[in-house]
Amino acid sequence: MKGIQFSQTNKIPSPNIYVQMLPEYKGWVYVDQEAVDLKGHWSEQFVNPVLPLDLEIGCGNGFFFEHLSVSEPDRNHVGIEIKYKPLIQTARRVRKLNSSNAKAIRYHAGLVSEIFASSEIDNVHVHFPDPWPRKKQWKHRLLQPGFFEEMHGIQKPGTWVDFKTDSQDYFDFVLKFKEKIPYEIIRLTRDLHQSEWKAGNFETAFERLFLKQNLPIYYCRFQRK
Ligand SMILES: C[S@@+](CC[C@H](N)C(=O)[O-])C[C@H]1O[C@@H](n2cnc3c(N)ncnc32)[C@H](O)[C@@H]1O
Repeated sequence: MKGIQFSQTNKIPSPNIYVQMLPEYKGWVYVDQEAVDLKGHWSEQFVNPVLPLDLEIGCGNGFFFEHLSVSEPDRNHVGIEIKYKPLIQTARRVRKLNSSNAKAIRYHAGLVSEIFASSEIDNVHVHFPDPWPRKKQWKHRLLQPGFFEEMHGIQKPGTWVDFKTDSQDYFDFVLKFKEKIPYEIIRLTRDLHQSEWKAGNFETAFERLFLKQNLPIYYCRFQRK
């Protein structure tokens, strides 16, 4: 991941209507260089800076992010989203609630060390990242050994990364390199909704779509060593 500049996240055609809405979301959304400038200072952006700081990657429409903000008021939450439409959808939800503990960031999630300092982040949620199903696309999958190296750099010891996917292939792809990363698997199921973790699970927007098709949800929790 080293050597990639944040400016590579700027390839999405813009401006679109969501880009034009960004000024309305000042204080709720931090875009590209604004996020780089806050490296090491994210907690100071929140009403209560002493709370743990969790990260959701790829918030989509923000359904789960809103849930995090409401259900975990004793933690602060940042959500990274690369596309402007879901970025604004996410920010809109927490702005509507006037959340004191949630902010959205527009950035590439593979480059988190550009925007977070060492040990700045506690727990991380990665739900239904783009599966890139064809073999020649696998290099685009977010969860790779290099991703866990980046996460290890920004997370505190003992915190975790939660990973949910509907893709058996992506799940197996990640498990294949589990011995090579500085994380230990402390939860694993190939059918979350038939598992002991179902009760504590919140269904994300994509998860609901897959459940309607009766697809199993693969789930794993990696604890940082
Ligand atoms: C399949 S959706 C899942 C959304 C949500 N997590 C859910 O479960 O409903 C994947 C999301 O990740 C975002 N995404 C994809 N690549 C990303 C990246 N490199 N950095 C940040 N977000 C990314 C996409 O824009 C999309 O909103």
